[in-house]
Amino acid sequence: MQHKVLILDFGSQYTQLIARRVRELNIYCEIFPFNSKNFNVENYKAVILSGSPFSVRSKEAPQPDLSKIKGKIPLLGVCFGAQFLAHNYGGRVAASNTREYGRANLSFVKSGELFFEGVSEASQVWMSHSDTIVQLPDNFELIASTHDVKNAAFKIKDETTFGIQFHPEVYHSTDGLKILENFLVKIANLEQTWTPDSFVDATVKKLKSKLGNDKVVLGLSGGVDSTVAATLLSKAIGDNLYCIFVNNGLLRKNEFKNVLDQYKGMGLNVKGVNASARFLKELEGAADPEQKRKIIGRVFIEVFDDEAHLISDVKWLAQGTIYPDVIESVSATGGPSATIKSHHNVGGLPDFMKLKIVEPLKMLFKDEVRRVGASLGIDAELLGRHPFPGPGLAIRILGDITAEKVSILQEVDAIFINGLKEWDLYKKVWQAGAILLPVNSVGVMGDERTYEKVVALRAVESTDGMTADWVNLPYAFLQKISNKIINDVKGVNRVVYDISSKPPATIEWE
Ligand code: XMP
Repeated sequence: MQHKVLILDFGSQYTQLIARRVRELNIYCEIFPFNSKNFNVENYKAVILSGSPFSVRSKEAPQPDLSKIKGKIPLLGVCFGAQFLAHNYGGRVAASNTREYGRANLSFVKSGELFFEGVSEASQVWMSHSDTIVQLPDNFELIASTHDVKNAAFKIKDETTFGIQFHPEVYHSTDGLKILENFLVKIANLEQTWTPDSFVDATVKKLKSKLGNDKVVLGLSGGVDSTVAATLLSKAIGDNLYCIFVNNGLLRKNEFKNVLDQYKGMGLNVKGVNASARFLKELEGAADPEQKRKIIGRVFIEVFDDEAHLISDVKWLAQGTIYPDVIESVSATGGPSATIKSHHNVGGLPDFMKLKIVEPLKMLFKDEVRRVGASLGIDAELLGRHPFPGPGLAIRILGDITAEKVSILQEVDAIFINGLKEWDLYKKVWQAGAILLPVNSVGVMGDERTYEKVVALRAVESTDGMTADWVNLPYAFLQKISNKIINDVKGVNRVVYDISSKPPATIEWE
């Protein structure tokens, strides 16, 4: 049996965080909706039940079938998971008098409990629930309480089943990782062998046997995911991997040449295709953001497809899809209706290409992709690059696009990004860029009145792009950058800084 953990999802906002913590312990895990048919419990050495927006007392509450799990495989219920165990095996769960949300401190019922080994008494834990376990079933043993929550942690006698009311996966639970480690390593005897190096070895082996002598085509974007996917595949099948890097004319200044050179230096079999003119021609007159996106997506597929057809007998299309794109999740509105998000890094696969898909990073989180990249020896600068949208500068030039506007924005963007690097701010920012606004403003240069373009600078902090806040960049930095842009970039006489958070704004302006 593989040393892996099954996380059953009941729709909690924290489920992915549980998985990330388990993986931080170098233990491999997978998330499935509690009602999915796509897993076999016998393949796992431990099971974790997630939290949920549902109350166990509600009619719509998820009803997992634990008959093959409880008492047979080490089992940990977290929040809803713990309440489900208490509620379904003879205890009582009721609404709490007060909604219990925030920090609390543990106190142990007796010392020496393996589950809490190395966890300090009064350790801070994070609560987030409105129901509470008021009575444990007879064969459940209380092992920890907090000031407001008597039944904060329990174990089931003669089983390796545990329940905790708090969330060990959030950072506010200071010993949360230790508790997960105790459960997984000391109680469930899982080996902590899942490291980036072991992932690379195992994946390269798998890719070799899966792909044999087949040819594979992959679209490189200059981003982290496609680069790491290409490097892994190249390690497995060498020059049978054909990488295509398309210049859509909407990349950053010098990006096409720099990144292409970098790829070649890494030994990738890569072809750079300069399709700038084709993209710009197709975009002529298009001002609507969605229309621009559609045109770029379509032309990309056409260009990519033309190139792929030049490779004889190609069988596979490789993609840099990552785990958050493929996790099936329980929808917040209803247990049984699982939704699967799909994602195509190359903008959708045209039917007529009829290629099989290979996605070597499909089970990795973004931070793991970076760690695997580092273990493959990919340059730290490349791995640390900010995200950049597929449609590139097209969605940062508000309104219609011309070659002249692209060139102005590339200059402005380069000054901003290079400035962030010079001031050691680049790594503190999750994503940054410049936006060319479709308005002119009056200025004065020397004795002359000017009437030129306005650019906005945007720098945000975020973890996943879903929410974001603007970065409080030093005034001295903004002053320097603004001066440089207005002095050096012909056609721009005003710079503004975007101080909107997401939500309600978005990161991109279009
Ligand atoms: P928003 O503007 O939605 O952006 O707050 C969130 C993240 O998604 C990126 N983004 C895109 N990426 N194609 C992409 O590949 C797109 O059409 C697109 N639109 C936004 C954006 O750069 C940010 O990282």
